[in-house]
Amino acid sequence: MSKKTLRVSKIKDGTVIDHITRGRALDVIKILGIDGRSGGVVTIAMNVPSKKLGVKDMVKIEGRELNPEEVDKIALISPRATINIIRNYRVVEKQKVKLPSIVQGIIKCIKPTCISNSKKEPVKPKFYVVSENPLRLRCHYCNSILEEEDILKQF
Ligand code: CTP
Ligand code: ZN
Repeated sequence: MSKKTLRVSKIKDGTVIDHITRGRALDVIKILGIDGRSGGVVTIAMNVPSKKLGVKDMVKIEGRELNPEEVDKIALISPRATINIIRNYRVVEKQKVKLPSIVQGIIKCIKPTCISNSKKEPVKPKFYVVSENPLRLRCHYCNSILEEEDILKQF
């Protein structure tokens, strides 16, 4: 390995979130509720050269695996991310996140009067992905368009 190569340590047990869209590492950290005040080692790498993406971000978390809701949220902001589960230094599972065409449950509509925000109605929020980059969602109930920043604010 050339001396110019940046080497980020391998982890023993935990999760490596790889191929994160450039500039999204801190949003991933936020989605995972990591504030650095507890838990294990967290490594954040930004603007790392990548064959597939040109440039990517990466997050490595010691001693933690992700739940499905966290994976779904990461898919929204980084649809090409790979989640690697590491046990005893080996990648034991590799999962590509998937941006669904319909997003249900994890994001709220921005319109306060939308039926999906009514406490009286048991209506789950539901959106259609109208654009991936920048991310843009359309509410199934009121047709409101949620822009990327509206979505990021909710994490
Ligand atoms: N990794 C790590 N600690 C380990 C094992 C792997 O931090 N103990 C990291 C690697 O550095 C890499 C990612 O986890 O960033 C995935 O590892 P691996 O599947 O070995 O790498 P690639 O084959 O390059 O992955 P891909 O095909 O998904 O690009
Ligand atoms: Zn709505």
